[in-house]
Amino acid sequence: MAERVTVFEVGPRDGLQNEPRLIATADKIRLIDGLSACGFSHIEAVSFVSPRWVPQMADAAEVLAGIRRKTGVSYAALTPNLQGFERALAAGADEVAVFASASEGFSQKNINCSIAESIERFRPVLLGAKAAGLPVRGYVSCVTDCPVDGPVAPGAVADVAEALIGLGCYQLSLGDTLGSATPATTGRMLEAVLPRVPAARLAGHFHNTRGHALQNIALCLDLGLRTFDSSVGGLGGCPYAPGAEGNVATEAVVALLHDRGFATGIDLVALAGLSRFARSLRRPA
Ligand code: HMG
Ligand code: MG
Repeated sequence: MAERVTVFEVGPRDGLQNEPRLIATADKIRLIDGLSACGFSHIEAVSFVSPRWVPQMADAAEVLAGIRRKTGVSYAALTPNLQGFERALAAGADEVAVFASASEGFSQKNINCSIAESIERFRPVLLGAKAAGLPVRGYVSCVTDCPVDGPVAPGAVADVAEALIGLGCYQLSLGDTLGSATPATTGRMLEAVLPRVPAARLAGHFHNTRGHALQNIALCLDLGLRTFDSSVGGLGGCPYAPGAEGNVATEAVVALLHDRGFATGIDLVALAGLSRFARSLRRPA
């Protein structure tokens, strides 16, 4: 039997959060329902962040209330603090994600606090999630380069990754926020992280600004990682990382994985149709 790789679809959140035009709640719901039909096991649907910081995600609760939930699919939400976690819990998220940075500059810019302060903010989220029986995923952003501080030391990534796993995150997603990682810089980063967090607990999250994402994923596969984040249609970018392009396109990741003989459970034909719809959401109003 083919070995399984999990493709963690983040398009409805990472893909749409940066769109300047407010997308209709009904279109977000249609996108998520379409993804559910394609065979994903994990869909990051929304974030419960400050609507002043990210207006596009202000309707997160309405989105979660409107989707048709498919059995076996985990609908995830990004939560930067306890307030976000409580909103996610009330809205029925199946899992939540806390997000830290390996660089101080991006931490301040993205969540308005230092790395150490962010870890302290996540502690009550992890406790609340444990009490509620919700799995928590962790992100580390800027794993090779930071839009504010420049190149990031691999040891700094390993420190934050280990801290989030130590808090109780079931998995740690390594974020190439800028999409500037190369196989060389990704390799050096993983050399520092893998002795401290096993490959089975890691995911790769590559934006594709410089077109290296698939090569980086191929390297991660060789090093034992078996979960990758991506956005249908290659949507996205981060509002606090100017110039960063979208996540690597899910359809390209699934094609690469199938080509290499891995199973994903994802229907590429259905995904191609949905990718056209996803890209149409970027049209100016
Ligand atoms: P702050 O201003 O320092 O927060 O923002 P605060 O605690 O001082 O609160 C200020 C106001 O925000 C208060 O409202 C709070 O109630 C409200 P006011 O009294 O002024 O009316 N507030 C909230 N409202 C709703 N939901 C919440 C929440 N928290 C506070 N959860 C904060 C700190 C973290 C909230 C802010 O910086 C923020 O929302 N940042 C979000 C940034 C973001 O979403 N970035 C994109 C996602 S990360 C990403 O894309 C990277 C990733 O993809 C991986 C990668 O690619 O590297 C994950
Ligand atoms: Mg991202």
